[in-house]
Order: sequence, then structure tokens, then C-alpha cells
Amino acid sequence: MPSQAPTKNDAYARNASNDITSQPDPIVADRQSLIDDLNHDLAGELQAVVMCIQYSAKLTGPHRRELRALFQAEIADEQGHAQFLADKIASMGGEPTTVPRPVPKADHPREMLEHALAAERQAITNYTERSRQAETWGEVGLKVSLESQIVDETRHKEELERVLAGWDES
Ligand SMILES: [Fe+2]
Ligand SMILES: [Fe+2]
Repeated sequence: MPSQAPTKNDAYARNASNDITSQPDPIVADRQSLIDDLNHDLAGELQAVVMCIQYSAKLTGPHRRELRALFQAEIADEQGHAQFLADKIASMGGEPTTVPRPVPKADHPREMLEHALAAERQAITNYTERSRQAETWGEVGLKVSLESQIVDETRHKEELERVLAGWDES
């Protein structure tokens, strides 16, 4: 018999070492719930990519070129976040979603900026919670990667806040 190599499940099993009675297996259920939560985050990243593309296209007015550059600059970050999450979900045995959250309709630049800001704030809240979950599961690599995504989303959020803060003066 070949020796059993340690698997990712071992990390989850460590957390269940005190629980020998529950049925169905709570570790399997919790693992699925982490996959579901990461898929929720992935849908948000896909939304961010679609949002930046659509808002870039629809922008009008005197600030079109600057705001288009702002949205375009975020696409690579959000795409990278989406790829990371899809890779992680697949490696955990899940099916990465292909469905973005709906993009809120916006016809005016300020509305677009406000929707984008709300999405960044939501992402920071979600990744903060997800990072805590990853730590609980001993998933240090996942935790660090999620924190890196929080750094990116915080930069996006602050940039949007700065643009909106001076909006009435423009
Ligand atoms: Fe993102
Ligand atoms: Fe972002």
C-alpha cells in the first residue's frame, strides 16, 4: 500500500479533532460553505470587471477621459482577483462561478463612481471576513492573498472617495 500523503483535508480535519459525534460531517459542510463564500466573492470580482468595461463605454461629459482611465486601470486588478479566487475554488474541489453579480445601471458619471465605491466597500468587508475564516482553517496562504486583495480594494476605494470628495468643485 502506498503511504497516504497529507491532503488539504488534513488542515480542515485539524479543526474537527474535538468533534467525533456530528452527522453529517461538519467539516465537509464548512468546507463547502467556504467554497460558497469564495464563489460569492468571485461573482463580485466578475461584476467589477463588467462594471468597469460598461461604465468606461457609457461615460460622457468633460471628465470622460480621466474617469475612463480610472476604470480601465482597475480592470487588471479585478481580473487578477477573479483568477485567484477561481483557482482557489477549483483547487478546493468547487466549481468557480461564471455569473457576475448584476451591475447597477448608471447613466451619469457620478452615479457610476458611487456604484463603484459601494462595490469596493463591499469587497473590503467580504475579504476581511473571508480572511478571518481562512485563519480559522489554518489556510495561511489564502489569508495572506486575501489581505493583499484588501490592499488593492482599499486603494481603489480611496481613489474613488478622493474623486467624489471634490466632485462639486469640478
Ligand atoms: Fe477586486
Ligand atoms: Fe477593486
